[in-house]
Amino acid sequence: MIDEARLIELAVEARKRAYCPYSNFPVGAALLAKDGRIFTGCNVENASFGLTVCAERVALLKAVSEGAREFVAIAIACGEGPCPPCGACRQVLYEFAPELLVIMTDGEGKAVRRGTLSALLPLAFGPPQPPGNR
Ligand code: THU
Repeated sequence: MIDEARLIELAVEARKRAYCPYSNFPVGAALLAKDGRIFTGCNVENASFGLTVCAERVALLKAVSEGAREFVAIAIACGEGPCPPCGACRQVLYEFAPELLVIMTDGEGKAVRRGTLSALLPLAFGPPQPPGNR
């Protein structure tokens, strides 16, 4: 069973570590791997704006670099309403977890909305093999 409350709490905490002096829009993410590990991320901006990396991708890249490749759910926290992942993050997450549960919430973890990644990214371009077989 997924401890959604814990995942949301970790996303809200991660959001506080965002480095976002240009947008002043902090985002936090917490990604649950199949083996139970949770990887957090926050957005990390750069003076060369285009080099900014979103919270979700920070979490995913941390996870993959630590050996996790299969994922169950991600919680994302930002702003005033449920926080949907950007298109680039949807694509990058899809590579590893087409059926990922995406839990979108506000900066305080209160307003919550859920969806699957495949619903958020229909007709996605993905890898030929499911993640477990790679
Ligand atoms: N951002 C994320 O971290 N995740 C998203 O899915 C959307 C946008 C960040 C990037 C940038 O630092 C700030 O939010 C404003 O776009």
